[in-house]
Amino acid sequence: MQQLTSSQQLSAFVRGGDVGLVPTMGALHAGHASLIKRAKQENECVIVSVFVNPLQFNKTADLRKYPQTLVADIALLEKLNVDAVYLPEYADIYPEGDEVQQLSAGSVGESFEGAARPGHFDGMLTVVHRLLQQVNPSHAYFGAKDAQQLCLARLMVDKLGMPVKVVGCDLIRDVDGLALSSRNVHLSNAARNDALRLYQALTRASEDFAAGERQAQNLLNTIHEVLNGGDIKIAYCAVVNDKTFAELNAEVDCGSRVIIAAEVGGVHLLDNMLLVS
Ligand code: PAF
Repeated sequence: MQQLTSSQQLSAFVRGGDVGLVPTMGALHAGHASLIKRAKQENECVIVSVFVNPLQFNKTADLRKYPQTLVADIALLEKLNVDAVYLPEYADIYPEGDEVQQLSAGSVGESFEGAARPGHFDGMLTVVHRLLQQVNPSHAYFGAKDAQQLCLARLMVDKLGMPVKVVGCDLIRDVDGLALSSRNVHLSNAARNDALRLYQALTRASEDFAAGERQAQNLLNTIHEVLNGGDIKIAYCAVVNDKTFAELNAEVDCGSRVIIAAEVGGVHLLDNMLLVS
């Protein structure tokens, strides 16, 4: 595996053909591994970027706390037979320094996760756009755990007519059902137990949907019932159109997505589930 530590090294490496990019901020786990395995199946060459993008953190404390596990990340990438890991410095991505003209994620970027973390999605789209321009992949892989991010990446690529296919990959759960996230390492045992309620709540709502419930409010009531009692502060909980992220307040149809974000033991967690009958 090649380690590319500058944009110059990346340009010397990049090639045409089927190239899969898996953008990450490191702290890799089985969720990332599943994206990489899918990228390996669908491309001749797979590049994983590891860059903790300061522009998508609205709180400096969050940025400082973000887990950094580069040695383990590189070992995992070697094991997965990735062709190259791109490890840019800030200046490789943002040569203009502090004066970055950020892309706007528009109104979709201001709802849900964007309301809880103002500027997050502008920063995320800005870095994804630059990575896509630098790597020029045919495919870019994003996990469905960050469903709003995936939706926004798709909308950006469509709007700008970028020649890349955005591939959304299934959310990966631990054996107990907890959605895998780099932030899970910050959960105490008690908080982790409470966090399982997110999965349980989503499962109940999706079972109700499969049994014929179509009213968004009734599905959300079920979720609130399950979450009630744990040490969980709900940031938002909604049913959305998976393609536009517009909130659905009345009748819900197959392929809509239920999304939840909550503070559990001081850790901001996301989870979601697609409704299928
Ligand atoms: O999901 C992430 O880890 C980040 O938001 C991404 C897509 C790598 C952009 O920094």
